[in-house]
Amino acid sequence: MVKHPKPLVEIIGTGRYLPERVLTNEELEKMVDTSDEWIRERTGIRERRIARDDETASDMAAAASRKAMERAGIEPGEIDLLILATATPDRWLPSTACDLQAMLGASNAMAFDLAAACSGWLYGLSMAEGYINAGRAEIALVVATEKMSSMVDWDDRATCVLFGDGSGAAVVRKATGDRGILSSHHKSDGTLGNLLYRPAGGVHIPLTPEVLESKGHLLKMAGREVFKNAVRSMADAADTALRKAGLTGEDVDLLVPHQANIRIIKSTAKYAGIPMDKVYVNVDRYGNMSSAAVPVALDEVLEKGLAGPGSLVLSVAFGAGFTWSGMTFRF
Ligand code: ACO
Repeated sequence: MVKHPKPLVEIIGTGRYLPERVLTNEELEKMVDTSDEWIRERTGIRERRIARDDETASDMAAAASRKAMERAGIEPGEIDLLILATATPDRWLPSTACDLQAMLGASNAMAFDLAAACSGWLYGLSMAEGYINAGRAEIALVVATEKMSSMVDWDDRATCVLFGDGSGAAVVRKATGDRGILSSHHKSDGTLGNLLYRPAGGVHIPLTPEVLESKGHLLKMAGREVFKNAVRSMADAADTALRKAGLTGEDVDLLVPHQANIRIIKSTAKYAGIPMDKVYVNVDRYGNMSSAAVPVALDEVLEKGLAGPGSLVLSVAFGAGFTWSGMTFRF
């Protein structure tokens, strides 16, 4: 396989926002029949952030986006494409992306939401790459924002311990040198949708008092089945993204995976031939923030200097749909 000749698009600034409120495993022990030990052993999570009641998905996105724009050195008016990945939009209409556009004053952008669950931010990055490469946009803001606490059933111990809230963002533009996206692999399998879903609240099963009473509008997950598919799909994502870039696991300086469960992360790293000391993990601090997990992790990685000029980074994600993604970058 020939090495990817030249990246088309590069990330020029990243940002993140995490709500202040920390919810620990010990606090969850008082809410449902669980234990800190079970949660840590089965998931690797110690605590997660929970947004305030009055804090919206767009509020968090605005904070992450402002940081990313500041780091990129660009003004809101320079953005001509705004893609917002979320599974927890503020409202059905208009899109949260348009609300964010208004909050930022990004008046020259086209803005839309993207629904691909945990893979949403990587999907969005590839969409921005396509638009920019086609000459249809110059500077894109790709944001992921999730208020997972709003869709979790706080009486269901099998799911409520897993998720957290937060937002991550990146500004991207046409690559000017060797830095940028080297390869992408994105896939979906809609036949497995009912393993991880919210049955009600859309047009198929609208909200009624009965639906609300039976919690039909909250997240349902067949954990064990999702786990098996996540392991398989993340391996495919890693393998194919590396192959498309002409790379192997040995070439990778850092794996920045979706943060759902430490056991899924370890299995992905092992499959890709990447030792755990080259894997960035923050699931212990934030839980699963769905689409926001990868950009938040990437922002921390860049801020801490764990990836610098020339570093090769692999990112993989998996989520409801099912959807999965693998991308390689040179920073
Ligand atoms: N505390 C204590 N016990 C629990 C808890 C809990 N919080 N949750 C479940 N259990 C119990 C179960 O009831 C079960 O008990 P039983 O054997 O008496 O029936 C036992 O623990 C084992 O349950 P499993 O579901 O088999 O546990 P598993 O080891 O598979 O771990 C987990 C569950 C953590 C949910 C795992 O399956 C997982 O991580 N799945 C993938 C989730 C994921 O990656 N989602 C990503 C996409 S998210 C998105 O797209 C929005």
